[in-house]
Amino acid sequence: MRMRRKKHGDERREALSHLLIDAAALTPGQARGFFTDPAKPLMLEIGCGKGDFVIGMAKKHPEWNFLAMERVPDVILCAMEKCSAENPSAAGEASLPPDNIRFCIANANALTEYFAPGEIDGIYLNFSDPWPKSGHEKRRLTYGSFLAQYRTVMDAGRTVTFKTDNRGLFDYSLLSFEANGWTCEDVTYDLHNSIWNADNVVTEYERNFSEKGFSINRVVAYAPKTNPDVLPVIPKPDRTDADSVQTDTDCVTVEKTNKM
Ligand SMILES: C[S@@+](CC[C@H](N)C(=O)[O-])C[C@H]1O[C@@H](n2cnc3c(N)ncnc32)[C@H](O)[C@@H]1O
Repeated sequence: MRMRRKKHGDERREALSHLLIDAAALTPGQARGFFTDPAKPLMLEIGCGKGDFVIGMAKKHPEWNFLAMERVPDVILCAMEKCSAENPSAAGEASLPPDNIRFCIANANALTEYFAPGEIDGIYLNFSDPWPKSGHEKRRLTYGSFLAQYRTVMDAGRTVTFKTDNRGLFDYSLLSFEANGWTCEDVTYDLHNSIWNADNVVTEYERNFSEKGFSINRVVAYAPKTNPDVLPVIPKPDRTDADSVQTDTDCVTVEKTNKM
């Protein structure tokens, strides 16, 4: 996400340091200790942007802790300021609500340096950058090397919940999850007109794209027992958007296809 540099960004982040985990202090096994109640399950959002999703989820699920990771400091500042504004009295007092959100400026390509095996209970990827050029496949947050890290920091059976408006990235991601041993469930190509909409917490990009008429794709992928020994090659999805749009139902089962 590109944004104009924020004035006094460092000072403004410092003022909200009770919400921010220093990436240097985030070492395997330590994450839960940054929350008021370390016993709660720990959910990770990667690429939290301006924070609408994680703030909404933290309010909806006070029984979970949420760590919002974002690599752009000025973007995470927006999220932190929004979070703090939810309860101005909480400024500087980590024990007051929202006490189940923390932010961290970090790149998700080093997740296993931040978290111990099995430390994370669920991962959310929302409107991840699509990196459409095939030469940039390794940068996609659903590329095999990222999935392998997700599986390492989460136990088998834990989930990655992935939403995007981008059909090409979505189709690629379904293939990548399955080729890497993950099980895709609750797949929809039109989340907002699906049975899952009532539970959906909308992100900034999601609001923007759905207002422009784009439908939202969503999958819940379950982590496999083990990571593959070798990263599988993911073929280019052969379905075009027009081929694969579901007109009769919004909920579909992912079919495994050998057609590449
Ligand atoms: C397209 S924006 C979506 C923002 C938000 N999730 C939403 O749905 O509105 C993607 C965000 O992910 C962040 N991001 C991309 N790759 C990342 C990575 N490897 N680690 C951390 N954040 C990343 C970007 O900086 C950007 O803010």
